Amino acid sequence: MKKVTAKAPINIALIKYWGKEDELKVIPYNSSLSLTLDNLYTVTTIEESTSGFSFTLNNKVVDGKELKRVYEFLKLFASIEELEKIKVSSTNYVPTGAGLASSASAFAALSIAANKYFNTNYVFDKLSSITRLGSGSACRSLLGGFVAWEKSGMVYQVNSKVNDFVMISVIVDSNKKEISSRNAMAISIKTSPLYKMFVDEANDDFSKLKLALELGNLKEIGKLTKNSALMMHAVMASTNPPIEYLKEKSYEIIDLCDELLELGLYCYPTMDAGANVKILTNEKDFKKIIQMLEKKGFIDYYISRPGEGALIIDEQDS
Ligand code: PMV
Repeated sequence: MKKVTAKAPINIALIKYWGKEDELKVIPYNSSLSLTLDNLYTVTTIEESTSGFSFTLNNKVVDGKELKRVYEFLKLFASIEELEKIKVSSTNYVPTGAGLASSASAFAALSIAANKYFNTNYVFDKLSSITRLGSGSACRSLLGGFVAWEKSGMVYQVNSKVNDFVMISVIVDSNKKEISSRNAMAISIKTSPLYKMFVDEANDDFSKLKLALELGNLKEIGKLTKNSALMMHAVMASTNPPIEYLKEKSYEIIDLCDELLELGLYCYPTMDAGANVKILTNEKDFKKIIQMLEKKGFIDYYISRPGEGALIIDEQDS
């Protein structure tokens, strides 16, 4: 029985991607830069099947649109005939669709599992350009640490002088989001008067963040991170009709981060297409931040550190 299992982490963008210049090739309007996390991930197995193609997510058989999305993606690696001879099962060790980027880890895991299972042997650049067709941000989950996804399509690791970062993901709402990021960003491009400004600023801030990471300029790293998230959410708010992923609790956490920053802690929030707030902090300060979060009733959180990229964890062929 042939069987391949891959594991891929989630990544949290510090400089956000929000919109495609080319929908078909998934070319973003701006470059983005993320941090890969060590303990939130997807594990995906592709194995031989005698009963046709199936896809199971978190032990539940998936059908409809989601099944089609996976099937269409796998057609980039295999023929329909080959696909009818496999089954795919995935487990998300992260709340699905809650703004914790589970589609990024999902498509990164699927991509490297398929590349191995079907012996396509795509080189990294080709594999990353395929992976982003599943979900744009998924191409950043292929690599570990800080990862750049340039507008040109290039995906690569960014050197950082400091590596004791800690990311606290505070769960505000683990329900599935009402509007997918894919649809939401397309409406933003068409209707937000702030969109062009966001893109220009993101491209500038991308270069600034790369430099700040190389120099270990902590304050600058934090400021750029927070600013990019706020800019993206301003674009969402000025989209017509407005897109609002953040909840009252999200704003409470953002305010708490401001208070803690004033007190001298390293504490910068970032938010994606969901209500959860991720806090960029470090080894020195994260325990104090958690104490404060718990005091305010935020007891559901994950503590992550920079992690490695997607990899094959098991392979059998007998
Ligand atoms: O990968 P997508 O198409 O789901 O887009 C995700 C976009 C954000 O998570 C909101 C920002 C980012 O750069 O990850």
